[in-house]
Amino acid sequence: MEILRSIKELKSKLILTDGSIGLVPTMGSLHKGHLSLLDYARKENEILVASLFVNPKQFSPQEDFQNYPRDVQKDISIFSDSSVDFVFIPDEDQIYPKNFSTYINNHFEGETFEGEFRDSHFEGVLTVVAKLINIVNPKRIYFGEKDAQQLFLVKKMVSDLNFDVIIRSVETIRESNGLACSSRNSYLSREDFIGAGNIYKSLLKVSTSWKEGENNFSILKKSFLKNLENMDGMVIQYAEILDPNTFKSIDSINEIKEAIFIVAVIFKGIRLIDNITLD
Ligand code: PAJ
Repeated sequence: MEILRSIKELKSKLILTDGSIGLVPTMGSLHKGHLSLLDYARKENEILVASLFVNPKQFSPQEDFQNYPRDVQKDISIFSDSSVDFVFIPDEDQIYPKNFSTYINNHFEGETFEGEFRDSHFEGVLTVVAKLINIVNPKRIYFGEKDAQQLFLVKKMVSDLNFDVIIRSVETIRESNGLACSSRNSYLSREDFIGAGNIYKSLLKVSTSWKEGENNFSILKKSFLKNLENMDGMVIQYAEILDPNTFKSIDSINEIKEAIFIVAVIFKGIRLIDNITLD
């Protein structure tokens, strides 16, 4: 495995390779969710490239950029164990040189839900993902379903702007109590980690009622909220049922075949997101 810190170095290595390139972008602090993306990508591509860049432009000023969990040495050994061929760990000025001024924005589906609560978050995500695609020129790029809106918007960008890359989505990997694996889970105390398991348990209850025939969205949402609302330290930012094809809220199943229930909460001061497909 080779570690590259400049775009020039990385490109000079990739140009010598032969075969399909798979790219897994990450912000490090790797967990089982990232591992699943790496495994999936390893199987489908001859060359596996991973990037580790804590992208400052996707954090709004009140967010945790400075304190975002970082353990580069540990991440490097995990990348190596996952048979990554090239790890790209750029310094900030490689990605955003002093005179940087061009951004990618989605002013439609990028401004709802996460976009509403996290100022210019998706501008940062789309811009860095576009740059990584242009730098690495992968055949396939991998994203987790946990970040459903991110996945939707990257797909939209690739389609709207004619990027020549295949997007693969990988299902959400969870802790044993159901909590979606996330680098931010490390902020939770043991007790709060256990409590946070209720988010997925409540999503599962919705999914069960749905399967049992409850298709009144307002009843489904109310029962979900009732499950979580009374928990100490729980603030629900949004809980919505969407059409996965448009990422817009819907009121009834008559409009579509499959729906996605998305949720964002702040639990004990830690922001957590999750979702479940209702099919
Ligand atoms: P990061 O949070 O490090 O996540 C990197 C990738 O891992 C994303 O595609 C994310 O959806 C996926 N992932 C995270 N938790 C997961 C889980 N529990 N199960 C499955 N996949 C999971 O998302 C980002 O970084 C950044 O926004 C990035 C795309 C790298 C751009 O900076």
